[in-house]
Amino acid sequence: MTIKNVLKMGNEQLLQPSVALDNFSQHGRAYPKLNELIADMFETMIAADGAGIAAPQIGVNLRVVIFGSETIPKRYRRYGEIVPLTILINPVIKPLTHKLIDGWEGCLSVPGLRGLVPRFQKIEYSGFDITGQEIRRVVENFHARVVQHEVDHLDGILYPQRIKDLRYFGFEEELSYPL
Ligand code: NI
Repeated sequence: MTIKNVLKMGNEQLLQPSVALDNFSQHGRAYPKLNELIADMFETMIAADGAGIAAPQIGVNLRVVIFGSETIPKRYRRYGEIVPLTILINPVIKPLTHKLIDGWEGCLSVPGLRGLVPRFQKIEYSGFDITGQEIRRVVENFHARVVQHEVDHLDGILYPQRIKDLRYFGFEEELSYPL
């Protein structure tokens, strides 16, 4: 396990769509380094106190994300809601409402900044864990937001691209809004 360098906004690799993993449950036959990749993603996310990370952020353009608020030290937790630590491979999101809600987001690839981003309030997401077991969950609010943010990375989208009003985008220590 290694703490990896997180690519930052401006790096062209973050704009590339990532590729789905095939047959990954066959002990990583398609991608033998899957376990190592996920271990590195965990190390990197935890070291940065992030709530999630996507493989392209450490330079691997595969459809793998991890997220969860359990590992974030309490002092950094902005949200009451606890999101279980989850590895999600080949994720698919289905919005269950047209309702978008605004919430503040940050990103390890956009250090120091936060922005107000509209996301679907309620979604169903599915995908696979590392053993090939299907994961399917209906979630709302912060949990739904985290998943939408991470899956966006797999499509080459960073949260600033989704901000509707750039007045609500700025350096964390300067923003006067309740984050
Ligand atoms: Ni991010």
